[in-house]
Amino acid sequence: MRLPQLVNVLLLGAGGREHAFAWKIAQSERLAKLFIAKGNAGTKSLGTNVDISPTNFAGIKQFVLTNNINLVVVGPEEPLVRGIRDFFAGDDEICYVPVVGPSAAGAMLEGSKQFAKDFMQRNGIPTARYQTFGKNDLEAGYAFLESLKPPYVLKANGLAAGKGVVIPTSLEEAKRELADMLNGKFGIASQKVVIEEYLNGIELSVFVVTDGTDYKILPEAKDYKRVGDGDTGLNTGGMGAVSPVPFATPEFMRKVEERIVKPTIEGLAKEKILYKGFIFVGIMNVDGEPYVIEYNVRMGDPETEVVLPRIESDILDLFEGIVYNSLASKELRISPDTAVTVVAVSGGYPGAYETGKPIEGLDAVGDSLVFHAGTTETKTGVETAGGRVLAVTSKGTGIADALQKSYAALSGIHYEGMYYRKDIGQDLIKLRK
Ligand code: AMP
Ligand code: GLY
Repeated sequence: MRLPQLVNVLLLGAGGREHAFAWKIAQSERLAKLFIAKGNAGTKSLGTNVDISPTNFAGIKQFVLTNNINLVVVGPEEPLVRGIRDFFAGDDEICYVPVVGPSAAGAMLEGSKQFAKDFMQRNGIPTARYQTFGKNDLEAGYAFLESLKPPYVLKANGLAAGKGVVIPTSLEEAKRELADMLNGKFGIASQKVVIEEYLNGIELSVFVVTDGTDYKILPEAKDYKRVGDGDTGLNTGGMGAVSPVPFATPEFMRKVEERIVKPTIEGLAKEKILYKGFIFVGIMNVDGEPYVIEYNVRMGDPETEVVLPRIESDILDLFEGIVYNSLASKELRISPDTAVTVVAVSGGYPGAYETGKPIEGLDAVGDSLVFHAGTTETKTGVETAGGRVLAVTSKGTGIADALQKSYAALSGIHYEGMYYRKDIGQDLIKLRK
């Protein structure tokens, strides 16, 4: 099976990741029409924004039928965890429309930390030692904490908008946190809590596409999660990213492929879990040995904003391989260039922040790419509409070269309260020396 020669695409999502996807899809010679639900001011110039929520499955079905959509690409995890793929498969009118994204069973790799950990254990995939506790297991949870050394890692089992992981440094704090979580600190997401051993190392995001049998490893990236320079302050969705990552050497990536990627794909097949889409493996490099921190069933944001600019081959062709089991025959050509992205946020993020601030200087950015995250277009121009506002991506021959371009572009952009980290990539530049 193949997609039609000219493809009408519906892309779900509204952030920087989706702007980057829209930008890449729009370069395909096979694209007929691109629709983005809901999109932002940036995606508007690449396709048609559609005011339907990615979790409004009935609305999406109507849109797919009326607009002769040939392919649905899912950006965020929520529609996947809620079973958008199964919704399509189970409906006679749209079951022939392929979806890039796993089944609800596959999306459990992100939707349930316990499921993900048990999957790794069953399939011999290296990960931190752990146990799962429910409301009635508080004493057992305390005992497990006592058996571990600080710091302690506590994870709400369910989706908690990226906030469900807490890393207390003292035993008392860890016990209090466990009790709070089991008592509903994160609602139903923390009805169960996974406690695991702390892994000391440096993190890496690895991205894989699979058609359920074959796989391809996309460029890896490093994400900068904390809001402040020097990795200080609160956790965010991500303040910047770099690809490639110098410590992801061929030797390290071979270990990742043999010990993690292959057993993950084989485990999904063996357990009859339908998976056609992206797998984002969060990895900790502990003295040169890779361990899985988490799986996500989608691309990362802002990692997508550095991964896609390094992919030279056609993305609709790659999607065709994913949805019709022909990934092995598809070409994945990767640029040796370095890509970096620096995220500009609203003042106050990740706490409370204001929106509706006019953004100036978006056109004078040289050859950098400005991916919109939280923006909207009004009669008077483009305004801020979220915590993360823009991701400014640049390519270069190395990290320093690419960074200099992104920071130069950012210096010409302005909105009230604009803030970005000044030290993206600096740790990697130091590692090299
Ligand atoms: P997650 O939501 O699973 O990505 O966890 C959020 C962050 O917590 C990760 O990006 C890591 O920085 C950190 N983390 C999670 N699990 C561990 C662990 N076992 N050891 C050390 N840090 C961890
Ligand atoms: N940047 C991390 C994530 O997308 O979850």
